[in-house]
This record gives sequence, C-alpha cells and structure tokens, in this order.
Amino acid sequence: MDVNGVHTQDNELFLHRGFKLIRGIHDPDDVDQIYDLEIRDSDVFVVTYPKSGTIWMQQILLLIEAKGDVSFISQAGNNSDLVPWMEVKGTREAFITAPSPRFRVSHLQYKFMPAALSKRKGKVIYVARNPKDVLVSYFYFHKFANMLETPKDFNDFFEKFMMDRVFGGSWFEHIKTWYSHLDDINVLFITYEEMIRDLSSAVRRITSFLGKDLTEEQLANVVKHSTFKNMKKIPQASYEKVSGDLLNHSQGGFMRKGTIGDWKNHFTVAQSEQFDEVFHREMQDFPLSFIWDMRDIK
Ligand code: PPS
Repeated sequence: MDVNGVHTQDNELFLHRGFKLIRGIHDPDDVDQIYDLEIRDSDVFVVTYPKSGTIWMQQILLLIEAKGDVSFISQAGNNSDLVPWMEVKGTREAFITAPSPRFRVSHLQYKFMPAALSKRKGKVIYVARNPKDVLVSYFYFHKFANMLETPKDFNDFFEKFMMDRVFGGSWFEHIKTWYSHLDDINVLFITYEEMIRDLSSAVRRITSFLGKDLTEEQLANVVKHSTFKNMKKIPQASYEKVSGDLLNHSQGGFMRKGTIGDWKNHFTVAQSEQFDEVFHREMQDFPLSFIWDMRDIK
C-alpha cells in the first residue's frame, strides 16, 4: 500500500522510545520534533488512545468553531483535512504555517507532545473510553485498515491488545501517564461514555472549555450534527471517502456501533476475567471509574 508516497506492509509496527508506531505512516524523527513545536494559546489538541472517540471529537470541534453550521465541514474531503493527526509523517510544516486556530488530534503518549503544553500553552481535550469497548472497536478497525495486520480472529486480537502489540501500545500506560499530568496542562478530561449519556451536556462542557459563546440554537445544531446517526450520513465525518488504499471499505467503517458494552458480545467469560484482573492491578490507584454497560447510564 502507498501512504504519502511510502510503501507499507501489514504488521509493520515499530517501537520508538517505548511506543508502537506504524511504519510508513509515522517517522520517528518527525515524532521527536513534535516536542519542540511552538504552541499558540489558540491551539487545541484532541488526545485519545485509538478508538476512544477521536473522529467524534473532530466533528464536535469543527461544529463548535462553525457555530453549528454543518456546511462548514463540507469544504473538506475528510474532517482530518481540517483536524489532522499531528503524528503523521510530513505534517510538521503544515502545522507550523497553519493559521489560528490550529486543531489537531493525536494518539501519542504525553512524553512526545509539545513541551509548551506543560507551560499551559494551548488546550488539550483527552477523551477516554472503557478499554473493553476500545479493544472490540480496535479489532474491527484492524479488519478494514490496510496499514494494520488483519487479525486471524477475535482471540488473536485479544492477545495482541493484552500484550500491547498494537499502535498506541498499552491502553493503561496511555491513560495513566496523561492523567498524571492533568494539573500541568490546560486540559478537559472527558469520557466517551459521558458523551453517549448526555451529548448536549458534553458539548456545553467542551464549548465552555474552548472559551466559545454559542447560542442555544447553535449548541443544538452542534449536537444534532454530531449524533452517531447523523455523522454516519456525513461522508467527511464518517471517513467513508478515504482512499481504498488506506481503508478497505468493504470490510467495515469507522461508524460501526457507537455504543457502550458491545464487548459483552465478543469477550468470553475467561477473557473478561483476565481483562478485569489486569484492569484492577493496573488501575487500582486511578481515581475514576468507567462505565461498562448501557444499563449503567440509565
Ligand atoms: S480512531 O481510528 O482512533 O480515530 O477511531 P475513533 O474515532 O477514536 O473511534 C471510533 C469509534 O468511535 C465511535 N463513534 C461514535 N460513537 C457514538 N457517537 C458518535 N457520534 C460517534 N462517532 C464515532 C465509532 O462508532 C467507533 O466505535 P465502535 O465501537 O467501533 O462503533
């Protein structure tokens, strides 16, 4: 496959300073240069472990910026043209020269991100999702993302995820390291499950964090155009127009289920117990709890 003119093959993950990157998509030197980037107060970075709500937050950010006017996003081929992934190779120059406000998404760990963030320059929105649903969503993503190895079956992918053999590495490390720096940066920590429970409140929190002032009607439009059902109908938001070289659309899509608890349809009892054991060990000092089932938000 050809990504930005670079040939890639399945399963070409490589380890860079303890973090798994994708050969052809990421370049270790480019990733290292992110640390020294000059940051503007108006910069906004959405940070997620993969499959935690990245494209959802891209859509919400763009709609807030456009005061709910959905026609704003139709100027792009995909939302990532307006809110790109900052770790993708060859994107540094565009970041430096882009007019304000600059919006970026990233799956990187804290240590790779611009040092200026810890001087309270720019803003970060960290979106977290319960990791069992992340694992399931990531399994399906591997089936249609050509740059990632197609899993043999769910068990195969379960093992890979548990051994951190995926882009993004350990879910536990990602969230814990970011969480440990929340006091150092301008950050909004929000969960996918909160957004499912009450999208309108989530949009209000995000709008106020960004220092924006939208009317009730504008806020309602942001919510309307960022629901799962409506995003699915917007090709720029749902990534259904991404080149077939990158995504095999016949094997799946980003807007898959958009719910809480789909892990229950995939995990065996043994896998769930194994996961819980690791979760309790890794997260015993973590102050927040997660929502694992739709019934828990009713
Ligand atoms: S990626 O590849 O990391 O950028 O993927 P990411 O966008 O983080 O995660 C994709 C999952 O987010 C779900 N999604 C939504 N859920 C609810 N409402 C809305 N509007 C929405 N938009 C995206 C998407 O369906 C993927 O989750 P799964 O569980 O696979 O459905």
